[in-house]
Amino acid sequence: MEIWAIANQKGGVGKTTTSICLARGLAAAGKRVLLLDLDPHASATRSFGVPAEPTPAGTHEVFLSATNLLVNLARGTAVDGLQLVAAQPALATLERRGATQPGLGLALGRALHAARGSYDHVLLDCPPTLGLLMVNALAAADRLVIPTQTDPLALHGLADMLRTATMVERSRRRPLPHYILPTLYDRRTRSGVQSLDTLRDSHEQRIWPGAVPTDTKLRDPAVITGAEELQGRGAEAYAKALNWILNVADRRREAA
Ligand SMILES: Nc1ncnc2c1ncn2[C@@H]1O[C@H](COP(=O)(O)OP(=O)(O)O)[C@@H](O)[C@H]1O
Ligand SMILES: [Mg+2]
Repeated sequence: MEIWAIANQKGGVGKTTTSICLARGLAAAGKRVLLLDLDPHASATRSFGVPAEPTPAGTHEVFLSATNLLVNLARGTAVDGLQLVAAQPALATLERRGATQPGLGLALGRALHAARGSYDHVLLDCPPTLGLLMVNALAAADRLVIPTQTDPLALHGLADMLRTATMVERSRRRPLPHYILPTLYDRRTRSGVQSLDTLRDSHEQRIWPGAVPTDTKLRDPAVITGAEELQGRGAEAYAKALNWILNVADRRREAA
């Protein structure tokens, strides 16, 4: 089982959209995929049509008791092969409790370990805040995918995220390979083109050579979580990005 964290310390860069599109790409390739929503704002959960009321069981339960298993918390989706663990607003309070309750930080890793025979891939859709939830996701992850909006301000968010990844690598003493995915790319704007150039120059090996264009189809939750295969430029870009991530990882494994 491979665990991918989809993270960036900036909001609105396409983390949730990327999580959903990569998850369904893996599911379409025949993998058993679990998408775990770690964001208290629950965008992925809402996108899949899980109602906010009554509060769904999901990620919060993982932190409440070790007897709450991911396989029991996961729910089916319209996408064949893709299951979802829902997020709840109460996740936000974990960040505060985390400091005082020892062991809370290990809960996610333990739950993932217990689920390792049930899925081929688990994707962790992270919140934009650097706290207990994100650090735990990074600590448990085999790979880190960093969606990065192609605008000048987003480049700062990326630098913060890379520093955090390095910190996690040091503390867990295991590499965390990361992959940068340029998103929301608008080639008609000068700042978009320049930002993409800057990104490519500074992260040669780690950046996907393409870019996910802005595509209104990706804005429609019913479309991106629906049973029908995704169509359009955005979907095609995500399919290529997924292949690139998988191939880069295979090459690394061969080299090791
Ligand atoms: N490639 C894209 N084209 C058009 N809209 C996009 C694209 N990627 C994301 N969006 C939209 O941008 C907003 C932020 O994306 P989201 O994936 O929720 O980011 P994050 O999870 O980082 O906050 C959402 O409204 C989403 O539908
Ligand atoms: Mg999100």
